[in-house]
Amino acid sequence: MADRRPRDVSKEEIELLRRGIRRHDHFYYVLDDPRISDGEYDALLNRLKTLEAARPDLVTPDSPTQRVGGKPSVAFASVAHKIPMLSLDNCYSEEEFLDWHKRVRGGLKGEPYELVVEPKIDGLSCSIEYERGVFVRASTRGDGETGEDVSLNVRTIRAVPLKLDLEDPPAFFEARGEVYIDKKDFEAIREEQLDEGGEPFVNPRNAAAGSLRQKDPAVAAKRKLKFFAHSYGYLEGMEAAKTHWDYLEYCRKAGFPVPLIITKPCKDPSEVLALYKDYASKRAGLPYEIDGLVVKVNSHTSQKLLGFTAKSPRWAIAFKYPAQQATTTVKNVWFSVGRTGVITPVAGLEPVKCGGVTISSSTLHNFDEIKRLGLKIGDRVIIERAGEVIPKVVKVIAGVRTGKEEDVLPPSKCPCCGSEVFKDDEAVAYRCINPSCSSQIMRSLLHFASRDAMNIDGLGESSVEQLTGKKLVAAFPDLYRLKREDLLGLELFKDKKAGNLLAQIEASKKQPLSRLIYALGIPHIGEKSARGLAEHFKNMKALMNSGFEDLSRVSEIGPIIARSITDFFGETQVKGLIAELERLGVNMTEPERAKGSKLEGKSFVFTGELKSLTREEAERLVRELGGKEVSSVSSKTSYVVIGENPGSKYDKAKKLGLKILTEKEFHELLGPA
Ligand code: IVH
Repeated sequence: MADRRPRDVSKEEIELLRRGIRRHDHFYYVLDDPRISDGEYDALLNRLKTLEAARPDLVTPDSPTQRVGGKPSVAFASVAHKIPMLSLDNCYSEEEFLDWHKRVRGGLKGEPYELVVEPKIDGLSCSIEYERGVFVRASTRGDGETGEDVSLNVRTIRAVPLKLDLEDPPAFFEARGEVYIDKKDFEAIREEQLDEGGEPFVNPRNAAAGSLRQKDPAVAAKRKLKFFAHSYGYLEGMEAAKTHWDYLEYCRKAGFPVPLIITKPCKDPSEVLALYKDYASKRAGLPYEIDGLVVKVNSHTSQKLLGFTAKSPRWAIAFKYPAQQATTTVKNVWFSVGRTGVITPVAGLEPVKCGGVTISSSTLHNFDEIKRLGLKIGDRVIIERAGEVIPKVVKVIAGVRTGKEEDVLPPSKCPCCGSEVFKDDEAVAYRCINPSCSSQIMRSLLHFASRDAMNIDGLGESSVEQLTGKKLVAAFPDLYRLKREDLLGLELFKDKKAGNLLAQIEASKKQPLSRLIYALGIPHIGEKSARGLAEHFKNMKALMNSGFEDLSRVSEIGPIIARSITDFFGETQVKGLIAELERLGVNMTEPERAKGSKLEGKSFVFTGELKSLTREEAERLVRELGGKEVSSVSSKTSYVVIGENPGSKYDKAKKLGLKILTEKEFHELLGPA
């Protein structure tokens, strides 16, 4: 028998194994047609792992062993899409569809055309980029112009090829498609979340989004995410397909799953209408949720002729099914107290399946809404989920009342702190105006720590509950005074968790002013206006000293927001709060937005193993900021970044007296993501 000890490893054998594993991934995850048993597959993968361990120099990022790579410790980097990622226009009825069709026919001036019909899977848009056939990056759609880098998580999706199965891959290929979860996998995740006492995802789309934005790729890897390619972005060095149909064929050959082929391209709109009716019942039997069909003009020349509106292509339409409804009973109504003291009534419902998920509560928004619906406790109601995450009560079935139903009365006391509740004349909302109401404090802290605000990841609902319950934290500055001993005294915090939270809190001090402004929870100030204010005023002092007039000059700021800001900063308490945050080291300035040029002209050499990022990620971050990565150290090298066990480049850098950065210093140099 041949000697199988790893030291005899050859590059050829490794490549052969990889090719085999890729093929089996494709059979299993793309074609749903496995050719070997799970055990045999694991044996192949394990063999590859052993060989690669013996020859780390031969490990490449496109190897099947590299799906779960490094851990991103920093927030997701933003990615500017080379070509904007647009959305689709919707239609909901035969009439609206035929209107669209008429516009297409008009636009194409009598030229014949075909329509391709695909399922519209309810997932999350994703762009995946390949350089010379090798996966380099994946990003979410974001606002269409800029998304988030979710490469590490998308790499874990087994249906996504890390290397394209093409003889002569193009210089650059950007596949766009949908990341989604099958119904059964979604149900399994939800059950697990419920078992663990966590907040479950409400629908498969939400689960896909949550999984894609996981900080830890190992968690994303367990979520059984899937992908199919439905469109393209930036392409270079390849002949573009002539039709959408051919493009899908190209994707299929390259190794991507493509949409379920519903039929050959249709020549007549009546064929599309028949399919739409057919799939209204068929969709329940599909393994994934679809919220409609997508109809696309096949020829790319015709597509170009039709062009785009600001938001969507004129050559495609989402032909959606109406929202899904279900009937259930209102068991009770409770009240939740928000960050600003607003009291929101919530209906507790007899759990019911609607659109593939189980619904057991629904917000009623406010008391005017209860009045409008005429809703009573005990009523039979129709609820609806229209693709969005939150279900709503659309109608009370008053005809089946028994007489035992009870009116919903607004609370006279805050359900949390017991203080009296007020209702402003002009506002619809009832409010608790006690500033020390623990519900409000908790909600404000959660908002302060949230991802788009100060991004303190470890500060979730249960931690905040403990910290406020034990009176360790009653206001934002208290967070920055927390000590390890304080946390260790609490149930939730074992040593490591306490350290992690303190590190996260410490890191949040460096957040730019824009996030701090948003985090403060000033009424009417969302993320966008906070950014506008920070960019205009540059520092907190200037913002606080600004008057109504100055504020109205900022482009995002209208009179209501301007008034809200002057009122907010006019409070002595707020002034004290800001001074305290500043004293505790919280950044009060907005960095110049120099992304793209910050590292202009700087060269970087990396040596040793990085812990928080893969080498590719680090290099990309440098490139994004205008710097470049070089392979060897010279007197001209601007920075040498050292990871664990740095090699001879480190010695050389020391000898030359170059600027050496640890991984932490490297992150500091890059600044906030
Ligand atoms: S084509 C220019 N095809 O639906 C946009 N999109 O509501 C090209 N979607 O953002 C998109 N299934 O994320 C296309 N078969 C399909 C799709 C599909 C789902 C998503 C996509 C898009 C959203 C619009």
